[in-house]
Amino acid sequence: MNVLVVGSGGREHALVWQLKKSPSVTKVYCAPGNAGIAADAECVGISVGELEKLADFAAANKIDLTVVGPEAPLCDGIVDVFNARGLAVFGPDKYAAQLEGSKDFAKAFMLKYGIPTARAATFTDEASAAEYIRKEYANGESSVVIKADGLAAGKGVLVSESEEQALEFLHGCFDGVFGEAGAKVLIEECLIGEEASILALCDGNTIVPLVSSQDHKRVFDDDKGPNTGGMGAYSPAPVVTEEVWSLINEEILNPFLYGVQQEKLNFKGVIFVGIMVCDGKPKVLEFNVRFGDPEIQPVMRRFDGDWYDVLAKVAAGKLEEADLVWSDDPAVSVVLASGGYPGSYTKGHVITGLDEAAATGAVVFHAGTALKEGNIVNAGGRVLGVSARGVTIDEAIQKAYEAVDKIAFEGGFCRRDIGAKAKKHLQK
Ligand code: AMP
Ligand code: GLY
Repeated sequence: MNVLVVGSGGREHALVWQLKKSPSVTKVYCAPGNAGIAADAECVGISVGELEKLADFAAANKIDLTVVGPEAPLCDGIVDVFNARGLAVFGPDKYAAQLEGSKDFAKAFMLKYGIPTARAATFTDEASAAEYIRKEYANGESSVVIKADGLAAGKGVLVSESEEQALEFLHGCFDGVFGEAGAKVLIEECLIGEEASILALCDGNTIVPLVSSQDHKRVFDDDKGPNTGGMGAYSPAPVVTEEVWSLINEEILNPFLYGVQQEKLNFKGVIFVGIMVCDGKPKVLEFNVRFGDPEIQPVMRRFDGDWYDVLAKVAAGKLEEADLVWSDDPAVSVVLASGGYPGSYTKGHVITGLDEAAATGAVVFHAGTALKEGNIVNAGGRVLGVSARGVTIDEAIQKAYEAVDKIAFEGGFCRRDIGAKAKKHLQK
């Protein structure tokens, strides 16, 4: 079987790494890939936005399955393009991708199917939204959450620290800071609790969760500093206890599948449910229609089955027959980022120590890397995901940082506390 992965981040490298191990896979391609993915797959110079070109490539190279990594091509309708040409593809179609592409669409779906989530109101004009925010504060709320409706590359959400800050962010939304994505705005109650990521495969007939994980969104240790795409992740997330899992299945995943069927959504992919566990009860913060990054990195490290077979069965509507084999061993992935990230940063610095890191047994997933004059250099905000598996979470953490410490590039940094939250739970 030939498989094409669309994207160029750590997520795509983790997917490629698993797909390459599948006994049924002959060749893995990645469009456009990166310097690290190039060691595991043949990189193809087509960008994720060139939907017709990607379909042409899949047809010409007898691709048996295309796996789409990022949300943008899904929201732009890559699945519709592939379906129209009879090409097998993993992901929801354009209409169903609104579960991520429009927070208003997602919220309406949650309310219709009784999925627990934060109370919210939607606005298309600044004056009414501002009035609502003032009322929330007058009613004693100490924070509100403002969300631009559309895709905003992870920047369209504010958990406000003051009424002034909330109103200023709101003004930015309607002033075009996020373009069309901010023309509609949701204002939500602020939920307090601990977050976790639930990734579940869904083919419209069946829904099957992967093992749980937890991201570290803030840039600095102890969850300080601005939000990023994610500075590291671990799996499993102990905050998702057996009781929480049963609530996730009963109150979120089963109603989700029922909703997909009722609405006749073409959904053959992964639903990534960001949850907040509030006093033992999971509530949905957001839906994404793609694998979480970095969450998928430790999750892939724990998968011991045939990943191609699983994804192909999802795309064929036969998820029920898939065999998901997981290791009990925890895994951790630590992100190395460029100095200055998530703000501006410089690129092109040579990365040293990659072979030494791999020699420790860790797997280094590449995100923003490129090849320059024979050297691997940093080329994006998040550069590498250094991942390790251990018999205990402690061992996984220690092995990941042992590998991290072999790697260096000018300005490069990481958080030092990835996985610490998991340990805190286990010590309780
Ligand atoms: P979203 O894109 O909706 O996931 O929002 C990004 C981040 O904002 C989430 O991962 C949470 O950390 C935070 N967030 C979103 N909605 C809420 C909420 N209702 N209450 C508290 N935090 C939230
Ligand atoms: N790590 C969060 C995300 O992929 O959106």
